[in-house]
Amino acid sequence: MTNQDDQFKKVISHAKEYGYVFQSSEIYDGLSAVYDYAQNGVELKKNIRDYWWKAMVQMHDNIVGIDAAIFMHPTTWKASGHVDAFNDPLIDNKDSKKRYRADVLVEDYVGKLDAKIEKEVKKAEKRFGDAFDKDQFLATNPRVLKYKEEGEAILKRLGKSLENENLADVKALIEELDIADPLTGSKNWTDVKQFNLMFGTKLGASADSAMDLYLRPETAQGIFVNFLNVQKTGRMKIPFGIAQTGKAFRNEIVARQFIFRMREFEQMEMQFFIKPGTQQEWFDYWKETRYKWHQSLGMGADNYRFHDHEKLAHYADAATDIEFKFPFGFKELEGIHSRTDFDLKQHEEFSGKKLQYFDHEENRSYVPYVLETSIGLDRMFLAVFSNSLVEEELENNTTRTVLKIPAVLAPTKAAVLPLVKKDGLPDIAKKIVDDLKWDFNVDYDEKDAVGRRYRRQDAVGTPFCITVDHDTLDDNTVTIRHRDSMEQKRVKISALRDIIKKEVDVKEWLMKM
Ligand code: GAP
Repeated sequence: MTNQDDQFKKVISHAKEYGYVFQSSEIYDGLSAVYDYAQNGVELKKNIRDYWWKAMVQMHDNIVGIDAAIFMHPTTWKASGHVDAFNDPLIDNKDSKKRYRADVLVEDYVGKLDAKIEKEVKKAEKRFGDAFDKDQFLATNPRVLKYKEEGEAILKRLGKSLENENLADVKALIEELDIADPLTGSKNWTDVKQFNLMFGTKLGASADSAMDLYLRPETAQGIFVNFLNVQKTGRMKIPFGIAQTGKAFRNEIVARQFIFRMREFEQMEMQFFIKPGTQQEWFDYWKETRYKWHQSLGMGADNYRFHDHEKLAHYADAATDIEFKFPFGFKELEGIHSRTDFDLKQHEEFSGKKLQYFDHEENRSYVPYVLETSIGLDRMFLAVFSNSLVEEELENNTTRTVLKIPAVLAPTKAAVLPLVKKDGLPDIAKKIVDDLKWDFNVDYDEKDAVGRRYRRQDAVGTPFCITVDHDTLDDNTVTIRHRDSMEQKRVKISALRDIIKKEVDVKEWLMKM
Protein backbone atom coordinates (compact mmCIF):
# COMPACT_ATOMS: atom_id res chain seq x y z
CA MET A 1 0.00 0.00 0.00
CA THR A 2 1.38 3.43 -0.92
CA ASN A 3 1.61 6.38 1.45
CA GLN A 4 -1.19 8.05 -0.49
CA ASP A 5 -3.51 5.04 -0.04
CA ASP A 6 -2.62 4.98 3.61
CA GLN A 7 -3.38 8.66 4.11
CA PHE A 8 -6.67 8.34 2.22
CA LYS A 9 -7.72 5.36 4.38
CA LYS A 10 -7.02 7.46 7.47
CA VAL A 11 -9.18 10.27 6.10
CA ILE A 12 -12.12 7.90 5.49
CA SER A 13 -11.91 6.23 8.89
CA HIS A 14 -11.46 9.56 10.71
CA ALA A 15 -14.54 10.92 8.91
CA LYS A 16 -16.56 8.01 10.26
CA GLU A 17 -15.09 7.85 13.76
CA TYR A 18 -15.63 11.55 14.45
CA GLY A 19 -19.17 11.81 13.05
CA TYR A 20 -18.49 13.46 9.68
CA VAL A 21 -19.44 10.97 6.94
CA PHE A 22 -21.17 7.58 7.07
CA GLN A 23 -21.74 5.08 4.28
CA SER A 24 -25.39 5.29 3.19
CA SER A 25 -27.63 2.46 4.53
CA GLU A 26 -24.65 0.91 6.28
CA ILE A 27 -26.76 -1.62 8.19
CA TYR A 28 -27.69 -3.13 4.80
CA ASP A 29 -24.00 -3.21 3.78
CA GLY A 30 -24.19 0.22 2.18
CA LEU A 31 -25.03 1.59 -1.24
CA SER A 32 -22.11 2.13 -3.56
CA ALA A 33 -20.94 5.74 -4.02
CA VAL A 34 -23.73 7.15 -1.82
CA TYR A 35 -22.92 8.72 1.55
CA ASP A 36 -24.66 10.36 4.51
CA TYR A 37 -23.34 13.40 6.33
CA ALA A 38 -23.29 12.90 10.08
CA GLN A 39 -23.67 15.34 12.99
CA ASN A 40 -20.35 17.14 12.40
CA GLY A 41 -20.29 16.63 8.64
CA VAL A 42 -23.60 18.38 8.17
CA GLU A 43 -22.25 21.46 9.98
CA LEU A 44 -19.03 21.54 7.95
CA LYS A 45 -21.01 21.13 4.74
CA LYS A 46 -23.39 23.93 5.71
CA ASN A 47 -20.50 26.23 6.62
CA ILE A 48 -18.81 25.62 3.25
CA ARG A 49 -22.12 26.29 1.47
CA ASP A 50 -22.63 29.51 3.47
CA TYR A 51 -19.05 30.64 2.80
CA TRP A 52 -19.64 30.20 -0.93
CA TRP A 53 -23.09 31.84 -0.84
CA LYS A 54 -21.81 34.88 1.07
CA ALA A 55 -18.93 35.39 -1.36
CA MET A 56 -20.99 34.82 -4.49
CA VAL A 57 -24.47 36.18 -3.73
CA GLN A 58 -24.30 38.48 -0.72
CA MET A 59 -21.06 40.21 -1.72
CA HIS A 60 -22.01 40.70 -5.39
CA ASP A 61 -24.72 43.34 -6.01
CA ASN A 62 -25.45 41.78 -9.39
CA ILE A 63 -25.83 38.12 -8.36
CA VAL A 64 -29.04 36.64 -6.93
CA GLY A 65 -29.89 33.14 -5.81
CA ILE A 66 -32.65 30.66 -6.67
CA ASP A 67 -33.61 27.15 -5.60
CA ALA A 68 -35.01 25.27 -8.59
CA ALA A 69 -36.65 21.83 -8.33
CA ILE A 70 -34.68 18.66 -8.97
CA PHE A 71 -37.36 17.38 -11.36
CA MET A 72 -37.54 19.33 -14.61
CA HIS A 73 -39.55 18.93 -17.78
CA PRO A 74 -37.83 16.11 -19.72
CA THR A 75 -37.38 18.29 -22.81
CA THR A 76 -34.90 20.33 -20.74
CA TRP A 77 -32.40 17.48 -21.10
CA LYS A 78 -33.01 17.10 -24.83
CA ALA A 79 -32.33 20.82 -25.24
CA SER A 80 -29.27 20.86 -22.99
CA GLY A 81 -27.69 18.00 -24.95
CA HIS A 82 -27.56 15.65 -21.97
CA VAL A 83 -29.79 12.98 -23.55
CA ASP A 84 -27.52 12.69 -26.56
CA ALA A 85 -24.12 13.70 -25.28
CA PHE A 86 -23.82 13.28 -21.49
CA ASN A 87 -21.79 10.12 -21.85
CA ASP A 88 -18.64 8.66 -20.40
CA PRO A 89 -16.42 6.35 -22.44
CA LEU A 90 -16.31 3.06 -20.60
CA ILE A 91 -14.19 -0.03 -20.98
CA ASP A 92 -14.53 -3.43 -19.32
CA ASN A 93 -11.79 -5.76 -18.31
CA LYS A 94 -12.71 -9.20 -19.64
CA ASP A 95 -10.88 -11.08 -16.89
CA SER A 96 -11.83 -9.12 -13.79
CA LYS A 97 -15.26 -8.06 -15.16
CA LYS A 98 -14.52 -4.60 -13.70
CA ARG A 99 -15.72 -1.52 -15.53
CA TYR A 100 -13.62 1.63 -15.89
CA ARG A 101 -13.79 5.04 -17.48
CA ALA A 102 -11.38 4.80 -20.37
CA ASP A 103 -10.37 8.48 -20.09
CA VAL A 104 -9.70 8.09 -16.35
CA LEU A 105 -7.37 5.14 -16.97
CA VAL A 106 -5.34 7.31 -19.32
CA GLU A 107 -5.46 10.34 -17.00
CA ASP A 108 -4.26 8.20 -14.09
CA TYR A 109 -1.34 7.10 -16.23
CA VAL A 110 -0.46 10.77 -16.78
CA GLY A 111 -0.96 11.37 -13.04
CA LYS A 112 1.84 8.85 -12.44
CA LEU A 113 4.12 10.90 -14.70
CA ASP A 114 3.23 13.98 -12.61
CA ALA A 115 4.13 12.04 -9.47
CA LYS A 116 7.50 11.20 -11.04
CA ILE A 117 8.08 14.92 -11.66
CA GLU A 118 7.31 15.67 -8.03
CA LYS A 119 9.77 12.99 -6.95
CA GLU A 120 12.49 14.60 -9.06
CA VAL A 121 11.70 17.99 -7.48
CA LYS A 122 11.92 16.54 -3.97
CA LYS A 123 15.25 14.86 -4.74
CA ALA A 124 16.69 18.08 -6.20
CA GLU A 125 15.37 20.11 -3.28
CA LYS A 126 17.31 17.86 -0.92
CA ARG A 127 20.43 18.02 -3.08
CA PHE A 128 20.55 21.81 -3.60
CA GLY A 129 19.08 22.99 -0.29
CA ASP A 130 18.48 26.76 -0.05
CA ALA A 131 19.99 27.38 -3.51
CA PHE A 132 17.18 25.35 -5.14
CA ASP A 133 15.12 27.25 -7.71
CA LYS A 134 11.99 25.16 -8.36
CA ASP A 135 10.76 27.12 -11.40
CA GLN A 136 14.14 26.92 -13.11
CA PHE A 137 14.42 23.21 -12.33
CA LEU A 138 10.95 22.52 -13.79
CA ALA A 139 11.83 24.48 -16.93
CA THR A 140 15.23 22.92 -17.59
CA ASN A 141 15.69 19.47 -16.07
CA PRO A 142 15.75 16.97 -18.98
CA ARG A 143 13.98 14.18 -17.09
CA VAL A 144 11.19 16.52 -15.95
CA LEU A 145 10.81 17.90 -19.48
CA LYS A 146 10.57 14.38 -20.90
CA TYR A 147 7.78 13.39 -18.46
CA LYS A 148 5.98 16.68 -19.10
CA GLU A 149 6.15 16.31 -22.86
CA GLU A 150 4.98 12.71 -22.72
CA GLY A 151 2.02 13.61 -20.47
CA GLU A 152 0.97 16.54 -22.64
CA ALA A 153 1.13 14.48 -25.83
CA ILE A 154 -1.01 11.72 -24.29
CA LEU A 155 -3.66 14.16 -23.03
CA LYS A 156 -3.75 15.92 -26.37
CA ARG A 157 -4.33 12.70 -28.24
CA LEU A 158 -6.98 11.60 -25.72
CA GLY A 159 -8.75 14.96 -26.05
CA LYS A 160 -8.78 14.75 -29.82
CA SER A 161 -10.01 11.18 -29.93
CA LEU A 162 -12.85 11.90 -27.50
CA GLU A 163 -13.82 15.04 -29.36
CA ASN A 164 -13.98 13.13 -32.64
CA GLU A 165 -15.78 10.20 -30.97
CA ASN A 166 -12.86 8.04 -32.09
CA LEU A 167 -13.30 5.41 -29.38
CA ALA A 168 -11.12 2.90 -31.24
CA ASP A 169 -8.18 5.27 -30.79
CA VAL A 170 -8.90 5.60 -27.06
CA LYS A 171 -8.62 1.81 -26.81
CA ALA A 172 -5.46 1.87 -28.94
CA LEU A 173 -3.97 4.46 -26.57
CA ILE A 174 -4.72 2.28 -23.54
CA GLU A 175 -3.03 -0.65 -25.26
CA GLU A 176 -0.03 1.38 -26.42
CA LEU A 177 0.54 2.71 -22.92
CA ASP A 178 0.29 -0.86 -21.65
CA ILE A 179 -2.31 0.16 -19.07
CA ALA A 180 -3.46 -2.69 -16.86
CA ASP A 181 -6.55 -3.16 -14.68
CA PRO A 182 -5.47 -1.31 -11.49
CA LEU A 183 -7.00 -4.05 -9.34
CA THR A 184 -5.80 -7.22 -11.07
CA GLY A 185 -3.08 -6.24 -13.54
CA SER A 186 -4.96 -7.82 -16.47
CA LYS A 187 -4.67 -6.12 -19.88
CA ASN A 188 -7.52 -8.04 -21.52
CA TRP A 189 -9.80 -5.10 -22.47
CA THR A 190 -13.11 -4.83 -24.37
CA ASP A 191 -13.74 -2.05 -26.89
CA VAL A 192 -14.58 1.41 -25.52
CA LYS A 193 -18.32 2.26 -25.47
CA GLN A 194 -20.35 5.35 -24.55
CA PHE A 195 -22.60 5.22 -21.47
CA ASN A 196 -25.24 7.86 -20.54
CA LEU A 197 -24.91 9.07 -16.96
CA MET A 198 -28.44 10.30 -16.25
CA PHE A 199 -30.76 8.47 -13.86
CA GLY A 200 -34.27 7.98 -15.20
CA THR A 201 -37.47 7.90 -13.16
CA LYS A 202 -41.20 8.20 -13.77
CA LEU A 203 -43.82 10.79 -12.87
CA GLY A 204 -47.47 9.70 -12.59
CA ALA A 205 -49.42 6.77 -11.16
CA SER A 206 -50.50 4.64 -14.11
CA ALA A 207 -48.04 2.82 -16.31
CA ASP A 208 -49.64 4.15 -19.55
CA SER A 209 -49.68 7.83 -18.67
CA ALA A 210 -46.46 8.01 -16.65
CA MET A 211 -43.96 10.50 -17.97
CA ASP A 212 -40.27 9.63 -18.19
CA LEU A 213 -38.17 12.04 -16.15
CA TYR A 214 -34.51 12.38 -15.27
CA LEU A 215 -32.94 13.30 -11.99
CA ARG A 216 -30.99 16.45 -12.86
CA PRO A 217 -27.30 15.76 -13.59
CA GLU A 218 -26.40 19.43 -12.95
CA THR A 219 -28.16 22.33 -11.25
CA ALA A 220 -27.28 24.74 -14.08
CA GLN A 221 -30.33 23.99 -16.24
CA GLY A 222 -32.69 25.12 -13.46
CA ILE A 223 -31.00 28.51 -13.79
CA PHE A 224 -31.18 28.67 -17.60
CA VAL A 225 -34.91 27.90 -17.76
CA ASN A 226 -35.53 30.64 -15.17
CA PHE A 227 -33.24 33.19 -16.80
CA LEU A 228 -36.02 35.46 -18.06
CA ASN A 229 -38.20 35.10 -14.93
CA VAL A 230 -35.34 36.28 -12.73
CA GLN A 231 -34.16 38.97 -15.16
CA LYS A 232 -37.65 40.48 -15.44
CA THR A 233 -38.83 40.18 -11.83
CA GLY A 234 -35.44 41.28 -10.45
CA ARG A 235 -35.02 43.97 -13.15
CA MET A 236 -31.50 42.65 -13.61
CA LYS A 237 -29.11 44.37 -15.98
CA ILE A 238 -26.40 42.54 -17.87
CA PRO A 239 -23.86 41.54 -16.61
CA PHE A 240 -25.64 39.67 -13.82
CA GLY A 241 -25.52 36.25 -12.23
CA ILE A 242 -27.90 33.62 -10.86
CA ALA A 243 -26.55 31.21 -8.25
CA GLN A 244 -27.88 28.08 -6.66
CA THR A 245 -26.80 25.14 -4.58
CA GLY A 246 -28.47 21.75 -4.69
CA LYS A 247 -28.41 18.05 -5.39
CA ALA A 248 -27.37 16.54 -8.70
CA PHE A 249 -27.32 12.87 -9.73
CA ARG A 250 -25.02 10.91 -12.03
CA ASN A 251 -24.78 7.18 -12.61
CA GLU A 252 -21.00 7.26 -12.33
CA ILE A 253 -19.07 4.29 -13.65
CA VAL A 254 -15.98 4.84 -11.56
CA ALA A 255 -17.08 5.55 -8.04
CA ARG A 256 -14.37 4.36 -5.72
CA GLN A 257 -13.02 7.53 -4.21
CA PHE A 258 -15.25 8.12 -1.18
CA ILE A 259 -17.13 11.43 -1.52
CA PHE A 260 -14.96 12.59 -4.45
CA ARG A 261 -17.19 10.91 -7.03
CA MET A 262 -20.69 10.17 -5.84
CA ARG A 263 -23.89 9.14 -7.56
CA GLU A 264 -25.87 11.70 -5.52
CA PHE A 265 -23.97 14.89 -4.75
CA GLU A 266 -24.37 18.61 -4.31
CA GLN A 267 -23.23 21.42 -6.58
CA MET A 268 -22.76 25.15 -6.01
CA GLU A 269 -23.18 26.80 -9.38
CA MET A 270 -23.40 30.31 -10.73
CA GLN A 271 -24.31 31.34 -14.26
CA PHE A 272 -23.14 34.83 -15.16
CA PHE A 273 -25.03 36.38 -18.11
CA ILE A 274 -22.90 38.68 -20.25
CA LYS A 275 -22.80 40.58 -23.50
CA PRO A 276 -21.59 38.39 -26.44
CA GLY A 277 -17.94 39.12 -27.18
CA THR A 278 -16.99 39.83 -23.56
CA GLN A 279 -16.55 36.18 -22.59
CA GLN A 280 -12.73 36.20 -22.46
CA GLU A 281 -12.70 39.15 -20.06
CA TRP A 282 -15.26 37.47 -17.76
CA PHE A 283 -13.55 34.10 -18.04
CA ASP A 284 -10.36 35.73 -16.71
CA TYR A 285 -12.29 37.60 -14.02
CA TRP A 286 -14.02 34.51 -12.67
CA LYS A 287 -10.87 32.41 -12.87
CA GLU A 288 -9.11 34.91 -10.66
CA THR A 289 -12.05 35.53 -8.33
CA ARG A 290 -12.71 31.87 -7.69
CA TYR A 291 -9.00 31.18 -7.16
CA LYS A 292 -8.88 33.96 -4.57
CA TRP A 293 -11.91 32.48 -2.80
CA HIS A 294 -10.03 29.20 -2.41
CA GLN A 295 -6.87 30.98 -1.29
CA SER A 296 -8.77 32.92 1.38
CA LEU A 297 -9.14 29.66 3.32
CA GLY A 298 -5.38 29.40 3.71
CA MET A 299 -5.08 25.75 2.66
CA GLY A 300 -1.75 26.27 0.88
CA ALA A 301 -1.16 27.79 -2.57
CA ASP A 302 0.83 24.69 -3.61
CA ASN A 303 -2.28 22.56 -3.24
CA TYR A 304 -4.07 24.25 -6.15
CA ARG A 305 -3.44 24.45 -9.86
CA PHE A 306 -5.36 25.26 -13.02
CA HIS A 307 -5.94 22.69 -15.73
CA ASP A 308 -7.12 24.13 -19.04
CA HIS A 309 -9.30 21.71 -21.01
CA GLU A 310 -8.17 20.18 -24.27
CA LYS A 311 -11.49 18.43 -24.70
CA LEU A 312 -14.33 20.91 -24.32
CA ALA A 313 -17.83 19.90 -23.22
CA HIS A 314 -20.53 20.17 -25.87
CA TYR A 315 -21.56 23.62 -24.61
CA ALA A 316 -18.21 25.37 -23.98
CA ASP A 317 -15.77 27.56 -25.93
CA ALA A 318 -13.22 27.70 -23.09
CA ALA A 319 -12.91 25.82 -19.84
CA THR A 320 -10.53 25.37 -16.97
CA ASP A 321 -10.55 23.35 -13.78
CA ILE A 322 -9.26 24.44 -10.44
CA GLU A 323 -7.56 21.26 -9.28
CA PHE A 324 -6.78 20.41 -5.67
CA LYS A 325 -4.17 18.07 -4.27
CA PHE A 326 -6.37 15.35 -2.78
CA PRO A 327 -4.77 12.38 -0.97
CA PHE A 328 -4.82 10.55 -4.34
CA GLY A 329 -3.21 13.41 -6.30
CA PHE A 330 -4.32 16.57 -8.13
CA LYS A 331 -7.96 16.29 -9.29
CA GLU A 332 -10.75 18.61 -10.39
CA LEU A 333 -12.42 20.57 -7.61
CA GLU A 334 -14.17 23.33 -9.56
CA GLY A 335 -14.93 24.05 -13.21
CA ILE A 336 -15.05 27.46 -14.87
CA HIS A 337 -16.73 27.30 -18.26
CA SER A 338 -17.45 29.80 -20.98
CA ARG A 339 -20.77 28.32 -22.16
CA THR A 340 -21.44 30.83 -24.99
CA ASP A 341 -25.16 31.21 -25.81
CA PHE A 342 -25.52 27.46 -26.30
CA ASP A 343 -27.97 26.70 -23.47
CA LEU A 344 -30.30 29.68 -23.87
CA LYS A 345 -30.43 29.20 -27.65
CA GLN A 346 -31.21 25.52 -27.26
CA HIS A 347 -34.01 26.29 -24.79
CA GLU A 348 -35.38 28.91 -27.19
CA GLU A 349 -35.45 26.33 -29.94
CA PHE A 350 -36.99 23.50 -27.93
CA SER A 351 -39.55 25.63 -26.00
CA GLY A 352 -40.43 28.03 -28.79
CA LYS A 353 -40.10 30.92 -26.29
CA LYS A 354 -37.75 33.86 -26.70
CA LEU A 355 -35.00 33.97 -24.07
CA GLN A 356 -33.45 37.31 -24.94
CA TYR A 357 -32.31 40.42 -23.17
CA PHE A 358 -33.11 43.92 -24.33
CA ASP A 359 -29.98 46.03 -23.98
CA HIS A 360 -31.11 49.66 -23.52
CA GLU A 361 -27.63 51.04 -24.10
CA GLU A 362 -27.30 49.30 -27.43
CA ASN A 363 -31.01 49.45 -28.23
CA ARG A 364 -31.13 45.82 -29.36
CA SER A 365 -32.09 42.36 -28.12
CA TYR A 366 -29.71 39.44 -27.92
CA VAL A 367 -29.27 36.04 -26.35
CA PRO A 368 -26.67 36.60 -23.62
CA TYR A 369 -23.47 34.59 -23.35
CA VAL A 370 -22.83 32.73 -20.11
CA LEU A 371 -19.83 32.30 -17.87
CA GLU A 372 -20.28 29.48 -15.37
CA THR A 373 -18.54 28.63 -12.11
CA SER A 374 -19.38 25.17 -10.80
CA ILE A 375 -17.97 23.56 -7.68
CA GLY A 376 -18.89 20.27 -6.02
CA LEU A 377 -19.79 20.88 -2.39
CA ASP A 378 -18.82 17.33 -1.44
CA ARG A 379 -15.48 17.68 -3.23
CA MET A 380 -14.81 20.92 -1.40
CA PHE A 381 -15.69 19.09 1.83
CA LEU A 382 -13.16 16.38 0.98
CA ALA A 383 -10.52 18.98 0.09
CA VAL A 384 -10.97 20.76 3.43
CA PHE A 385 -11.23 17.58 5.46
CA SER A 386 -8.30 15.69 3.93
CA ASN A 387 -6.03 18.73 3.97
CA SER A 388 -6.85 19.42 7.62
CA LEU A 389 -6.14 15.98 9.02
CA VAL A 390 -2.60 15.90 10.43
CA GLU A 391 -0.65 13.86 12.92
CA GLU A 392 1.78 15.95 14.92
CA GLU A 393 4.82 14.90 16.90
CA LEU A 394 4.76 16.66 20.25
CA GLU A 395 7.73 17.70 22.39
CA ASN A 396 7.14 14.94 24.97
CA ASN A 397 7.55 12.27 22.27
CA THR A 398 3.83 11.66 21.92
CA THR A 399 1.69 12.39 18.88
CA ARG A 400 -1.69 14.05 18.49
CA THR A 401 -4.24 13.76 15.71
CA VAL A 402 -5.65 17.15 14.87
CA LEU A 403 -8.17 18.32 12.31
CA LYS A 404 -6.99 21.81 11.41
CA ILE A 405 -10.17 22.85 9.62
CA PRO A 406 -10.11 26.60 8.82
CA ALA A 407 -11.84 28.05 11.91
CA VAL A 408 -14.51 29.77 9.81
CA LEU A 409 -15.67 26.35 8.55
CA ALA A 410 -15.26 24.30 11.75
CA PRO A 411 -18.52 22.57 12.83
CA THR A 412 -18.10 23.55 16.49
CA LYS A 413 -16.25 26.75 17.30
CA ALA A 414 -15.56 26.16 20.99
CA ALA A 415 -15.87 23.48 23.65
CA VAL A 416 -16.39 24.53 27.24
CA LEU A 417 -14.82 22.19 29.79
CA PRO A 418 -15.20 22.34 33.58
CA LEU A 419 -11.89 21.13 35.06
CA VAL A 420 -13.78 18.90 37.51
CA LYS A 421 -17.41 17.83 37.83
CA LYS A 422 -17.93 19.55 41.19
CA ASP A 423 -17.49 22.79 43.20
CA GLY A 424 -19.92 24.66 40.93
CA LEU A 425 -17.59 24.53 37.90
CA PRO A 426 -20.10 22.70 35.63
CA ASP A 427 -22.71 25.39 36.33
CA ILE A 428 -20.35 28.18 35.26
CA ALA A 429 -19.32 26.20 32.16
CA LYS A 430 -22.97 25.62 31.20
CA LYS A 431 -23.72 29.31 31.68
CA ILE A 432 -20.84 30.16 29.28
CA VAL A 433 -22.29 27.68 26.74
CA ASP A 434 -25.73 29.27 27.10
CA ASP A 435 -24.28 32.74 26.45
CA LEU A 436 -22.06 31.76 23.52
CA LYS A 437 -24.56 29.58 21.68
CA TRP A 438 -26.46 32.66 20.47
CA ASP A 439 -23.44 33.42 18.29
CA PHE A 440 -21.62 30.12 17.70
CA ASN A 441 -21.99 26.37 17.72
CA VAL A 442 -20.49 25.40 21.09
CA ASP A 443 -20.09 22.12 22.89
CA TYR A 444 -20.05 21.20 26.58
CA ASP A 445 -17.76 18.36 27.64
CA GLU A 446 -17.13 17.19 31.21
CA LYS A 447 -16.13 13.53 30.67
CA ASP A 448 -12.53 12.29 31.27
CA ALA A 449 -9.38 14.16 32.26
CA VAL A 450 -9.00 17.58 30.66
CA GLY A 451 -5.99 16.46 28.56
CA ARG A 452 -8.09 13.74 26.94
CA ARG A 453 -10.87 16.20 26.30
CA TYR A 454 -8.39 18.50 24.51
CA ARG A 455 -7.30 15.59 22.31
CA ARG A 456 -10.91 14.70 21.51
CA GLN A 457 -11.68 18.28 20.50
CA ASP A 458 -8.44 18.46 18.44
CA ALA A 459 -9.48 15.34 16.54
CA VAL A 460 -12.95 16.71 15.84
CA GLY A 461 -11.49 20.06 14.73
CA THR A 462 -12.79 22.48 17.39
CA PRO A 463 -10.66 25.66 17.21
CA PHE A 464 -11.03 26.66 20.90
CA CYS A 465 -11.24 24.91 24.24
CA ILE A 466 -12.36 26.99 27.21
CA THR A 467 -11.53 25.56 30.61
CA VAL A 468 -13.28 26.62 33.79
CA ASP A 469 -11.22 25.98 36.95
CA HIS A 470 -11.17 27.03 40.60
CA ASP A 471 -9.62 30.43 39.84
CA THR A 472 -12.72 31.17 37.74
CA LEU A 473 -14.72 31.22 40.99
CA ASP A 474 -12.58 34.11 42.27
CA ASP A 475 -11.88 36.27 39.23
CA ASN A 476 -14.26 35.29 36.39
CA THR A 477 -11.37 34.27 34.14
CA VAL A 478 -10.98 31.06 32.13
CA THR A 479 -8.22 29.42 30.11
CA ILE A 480 -8.69 29.56 26.36
CA ARG A 481 -6.64 27.06 24.35
CA HIS A 482 -5.99 27.38 20.65
CA ARG A 483 -6.30 24.11 18.66
CA ASP A 484 -3.43 24.71 16.22
CA SER A 485 -0.77 26.32 18.45
CA MET A 486 -2.00 24.65 21.67
CA GLU A 487 -1.22 28.02 23.25
CA GLN A 488 -3.22 28.77 26.39
CA LYS A 489 -4.21 32.19 27.68
CA ARG A 490 -6.06 33.44 30.71
CA VAL A 491 -8.94 35.73 29.72
CA LYS A 492 -12.08 37.25 31.20
CA ILE A 493 -15.31 35.34 30.51
CA SER A 494 -16.75 38.60 29.17
CA ALA A 495 -13.99 38.73 26.48
CA LEU A 496 -14.67 35.25 25.06
CA ARG A 497 -17.25 36.24 22.48
CA ASP A 498 -14.97 38.80 20.81
CA ILE A 499 -11.91 36.54 20.87
CA ILE A 500 -13.79 33.72 19.14
CA LYS A 501 -15.59 36.02 16.71
CA LYS A 502 -12.33 37.51 15.46
CA GLU A 503 -11.11 34.06 14.41
CA VAL A 504 -14.29 32.53 13.01
CA ASP A 505 -16.04 35.48 11.42
CA VAL A 506 -16.74 35.05 7.69
CA LYS A 507 -15.89 38.72 7.10
CA GLU A 508 -12.38 38.34 8.54
CA TRP A 509 -11.73 35.41 6.18
CA LEU A 510 -13.37 36.76 3.03
CA MET A 511 -11.54 40.07 3.45
CA LYS A 512 -8.37 38.10 2.62
CA MET A 513 -9.68 37.64 -0.94
N1 GAP B 1 -22.78 22.65 -14.79
C1 GAP B 1 -21.46 22.25 -15.14
C2 GAP B 1 -21.09 20.98 -14.53
O1 GAP B 1 -21.89 20.28 -13.96
P1 GAP B 1 -19.04 19.40 -14.12
O2 GAP B 1 -17.58 19.64 -14.34
O3 GAP B 1 -19.64 18.17 -14.70
O4 GAP B 1 -19.77 20.70 -14.67
C3 GAP B 1 -19.00 20.53 -11.78
O5 GAP B 1 -19.32 19.41 -12.57
C4 GAP B 1 -18.44 20.13 -10.45
O6 GAP B 1 -19.33 19.23 -9.78
C5 GAP B 1 -17.11 19.36 -10.53
O7 GAP B 1 -16.01 20.24 -10.61
C6 GAP B 1 -17.12 18.57 -9.24
O8 GAP B 1 -16.62 19.36 -8.18
C7 GAP B 1 -18.59 18.30 -9.00
N2 GAP B 1 -18.94 16.93 -9.40
C8 GAP B 1 -19.19 16.49 -10.64
N3 GAP B 1 -19.49 15.18 -10.62
C9 GAP B 1 -19.43 14.79 -9.33
C10 GAP B 1 -19.64 13.56 -8.65
N4 GAP B 1 -20.01 12.46 -9.29
N5 GAP B 1 -19.49 13.51 -7.30
C11 GAP B 1 -19.12 14.63 -6.63
N6 GAP B 1 -18.93 15.82 -7.20
C12 GAP B 1 -19.07 15.91 -8.54
